[in-house]
Amino acid sequence: MSATRNLHPPAFWLRDNCPCADCRDPRTGQKLFQITDLPEDLAVGAVRDCVPAADGGLGREVRWEPDGHRSVYPEAWLAAHAPGAGGAPRPGDGRTEADKELWAAPDLDGRLPEAGWEAYTGDRRVRIRALESVVRLGFVLLRGVPPRDRTVLDVARSFGFVRETNYGELFEVRVEADPNNLAFTGARISPHTDNPYRDPVPTLQLLHCLSNEARGGDSGLVDGFRAAALLRAEHPEAFAVLTRVPVEFAFADARTELRAHRPLIDVDPLGRIREIRFNNRSIGTLHQPAAVVEEFYAAYRTFAQLLLRPGLRLDFRLAPGDCLVFDNTRLLHARTAFSESGDRHLQGTYADLDGLLSTLAVLHREGARA
Ligand code: OGA
Ligand code: ZN
Ligand code: ZN
Repeated sequence: MSATRNLHPPAFWLRDNCPCADCRDPRTGQKLFQITDLPEDLAVGAVRDCVPAADGGLGREVRWEPDGHRSVYPEAWLAAHAPGAGGAPRPGDGRTEADKELWAAPDLDGRLPEAGWEAYTGDRRVRIRALESVVRLGFVLLRGVPPRDRTVLDVARSFGFVRETNYGELFEVRVEADPNNLAFTGARISPHTDNPYRDPVPTLQLLHCLSNEARGGDSGLVDGFRAAALLRAEHPEAFAVLTRVPVEFAFADARTELRAHRPLIDVDPLGRIREIRFNNRSIGTLHQPAAVVEEFYAAYRTFAQLLLRPGLRLDFRLAPGDCLVFDNTRLLHARTAFSESGDRHLQGTYADLDGLLSTLAVLHREGARA
């Protein structure tokens, strides 16, 4: 007798998961009924063990009252999915701190997540490892990506889809005569996430180095989840304020006007850190009662200080052919100032985590079949 034999999953849950061909289209696996199609007084009737045709393993057959529908559930499926009686499993969606490996710079000493472009494109296992680094640590550094115009788009398309924006399919990070963004000057850029003025925000960013001859212009990454977890431990009230107060972020130039209202720290329904938005260049004017403004600025300053804490930030220098792929909802990126006379040119683009996670899942699926 299986461990789940005596559990009685809630009736609507069980019926909603009926795998029969009347309930799910066999070609697409998609559900064929509406939740309102089920009888109001739905109840489990007779239950018996059986051998389901589908996977050949043990199954459980349920006869439903009052409509006489018949469902067969593989025991293995019930064991893996049936809701428990207590409050035990609290799974997340893979995006929160619960499913990440949080880091500070020394944690990555000598083990930067990196992969060579040739190995990445040629070897499925290298591709899996690289993409898993983005999921787990928030980034991967691809080396030896040909430092050619628009190649950053090939990198994005190797795992997902380019997110085109008002900056175009890609954006040039180099000194411009008439910049619409401080990124396009030689100025130092402190740790930030990109485009917090979009909702939805681009969840992935790529930066591909074509040349870096300038004095300065070194790169930095900070794990925003780690920083937010530290804030929660050291200043719980500041953490709470930053999860609660919606902040306006804005960007405008001659052709564009973008605005989003989100908290600096977004948490899931269980309070787990899920998204960071932090950008001193594009944070707008807070419109809140004075008391809220006071507590927001105190918390904002505390978090900003913490993000600059020595030891959190991983410093490195991009060389031509390096392409950084990172989670823009988690990591903050930065660069030191550089001499505007020197040659420094990055190409960047945005993409999204859903595409990367899908690619990774399919790669794993292919591995299981191999
Ligand atoms: C950016 C940016 C970093 C750099 O363009 O968003 O942060 O290294 N650039 O120039
Ligand atoms: Zn059914
Ligand atoms: Zn940036």
